[in-house]
Amino acid sequence: MKQRVAITGAGGFLGSALARRLTAEGAEVSALTRRPVELPGVSWQPYDLADLSLPPAALEAAEVVIHAAFSMAGAGQELEKLNYDAALRLHAEARRRGAHFIFISSMSAHGQAASSYGRAKWRIEGSLDENSDTIVRPGLVVGRGGLYARMFGMVCRAPVLPLFYGGTQPIQPIALEDLTEGLVRLTQRRAAGVFNLALPQPITIRELYTRMLAAARLSRPLLPLPGDLTLGVLRVCERLGLGLPITSENLLGLKHLRSFETADSLARLGLTLKPVDELPWAQGAANP
Ligand SMILES: NC(=O)c1ccc[n+]([C@@H]2O[C@H](COP(=O)([O-])OP(=O)(O)OC[C@H]3O[C@@H](n4cnc5c(N)ncnc54)[C@H](OP(=O)(O)O)[C@@H]3O)[C@@H](O)[C@H]2O)c1
Repeated sequence: MKQRVAITGAGGFLGSALARRLTAEGAEVSALTRRPVELPGVSWQPYDLADLSLPPAALEAAEVVIHAAFSMAGAGQELEKLNYDAALRLHAEARRRGAHFIFISSMSAHGQAASSYGRAKWRIEGSLDENSDTIVRPGLVVGRGGLYARMFGMVCRAPVLPLFYGGTQPIQPIALEDLTEGLVRLTQRRAAGVFNLALPQPITIRELYTRMLAAARLSRPLLPLPGDLTLGVLRVCERLGLGLPITSENLLGLKHLRSFETADSLARLGLTLKPVDELPWAQGAANP
């Protein structure tokens, strides 16, 4: 029998790739999104994180619910609350219906997270049950969209690349296809627990920029800048309503990046990842 899977954020970079993969695997996929999505074989249910009433048909017959949507609207506690409340509501409904819940978290989620993004993900993780739910922490997803493509676009446009806090922060990349493969296995097995999915060996932000520049065949100077001083300046600019290409939230996210042990998660899924030299670094250029 076909497995029935509901995916929030199914119109996004990761969610749409996952919806396509699961459909190709024979699953019956329902996209829970604000606007209808045009994915072959995928049905649609209206869903907005801000609407806690959750339309009654939203999770109809779903056996697995994958929560990939995340709103970056607003800032600070407002952003945290919106995403936290929505995740709790969706999780409660999934549980009530006996559906397995998979939460797409992040490697920004940890106890010392200072960005609203990392804190929201961490709070949501804390409200789930590792014995019955699945928490997935992907590293930086390398492909034609999402954060990677936004960073790639920034690297291509900026005449100089600022390196905050020394540029030594760890980044653990993973190819989009490898991540979706891992998520397909988790969906099919309904395996509970925490899964850190990315290459075990981190690269630094400096190396990430260098790889992006090489993929774009560009040369740019890398300029070390004092992180905390820039953070202070950004906060003043934000209070004055001045729009800048980088926000204090971006910098807080960068400051508190840390590496995660991933070998155990990969082994549990029997997943072999593309090595760092074979990642599709140039794909960011397709959709910057
Ligand atoms: N890309 C990465 O490197 C990476 C790494 C770690 C974790 N993640 C996590 O993976 C998930 C997917 O990320 P992504 O890279 O695919 O980003 P994305 O393309 O921006 O997808 C995010 C999705 O959330 C949806 N969304 C935003 N606000 C919403 C709202 N109010 N109601 C309903 N849906 C809403 C968006 O829908 P609309 O299309 O309607 O705007 C979008 O489809 C996120 O939870 C993200 O935190 C991503």
